[in-house]
Amino acid sequence: MKVLLINGSPHKNGATNRALLEIEGELLKNDIEVEKIWLGNDEMSGCISCGFCYKNKRCFRDDLVNEVGSKLDLYDGIIVGSPVHYASASGFLTSFLDRLFYVYGAKMKGKVYASIASARRAGTTATLDQLYKYGYIAGMVMVGGQYWNVIHGNDALEAEHDLEGLQIMRTLGRNIAWIIKCIVLGKENGLKYPEREASKRTNFIRNEG
Ligand SMILES: Cc1cc2nc3c(=O)[nH]c(=O)nc-3n(C[C@H](O)[C@H](O)[C@H](O)COP(=O)(O)O)c2cc1C
Repeated sequence: MKVLLINGSPHKNGATNRALLEIEGELLKNDIEVEKIWLGNDEMSGCISCGFCYKNKRCFRDDLVNEVGSKLDLYDGIIVGSPVHYASASGFLTSFLDRLFYVYGAKMKGKVYASIASARRAGTTATLDQLYKYGYIAGMVMVGGQYWNVIHGNDALEAEHDLEGLQIMRTLGRNIAWIIKCIVLGKENGLKYPEREASKRTNFIRNEG
């Protein structure tokens, strides 16, 4: 059982990472392996909607997106963390997740998913709304904790003082471990992910004639 933690902050060891560390601790205590990636603070391109992935099943930009996408079978769960940037997820994380889910979304179904946000003050729940949508559309199992999954602080030191935020992260970590174990037990007992109907795509605008 393994979980991928994705840190979408430009600070490798900032407030977002501090929250992820608290989740990591609970996962490890509950015998769940953890792999962590940091998106870095260099350029991260968004999706240019070129359609290359329809045929080739990978992004034409051979970067971290394909690296993570090609390893998705290894993970039972994915947790994404972001600092709040203008009441939204960071540009790095949005660009990364847009491409990861557009190319590899079909591989996400049935995996556990959660998102967390860190902020100095506000915009956290709007950010969570944004981040949770990737999991919803991909048929992932969304996990909650004891409150909105947020922590307050401008950096790791300030986040350390948000005792409630840290507790929220621990609860979330334990819930994720529990759900993953339930899913694994189900699979061992022959319970399969529900089969999908063939997709019906109805666009709202139709060309005349
Ligand atoms: C471009 C930018 C926009 C920000 N917008 C917000 C905001 O809307 N609300 C807020 O409370 N903090 C905002 N912040 C502060 C960060 O959310 C906060 O410092 C965060 O916890 C840093 O996490 P990190 O150390 O993991 O990067 C912003 C910071 C930056 C750099």
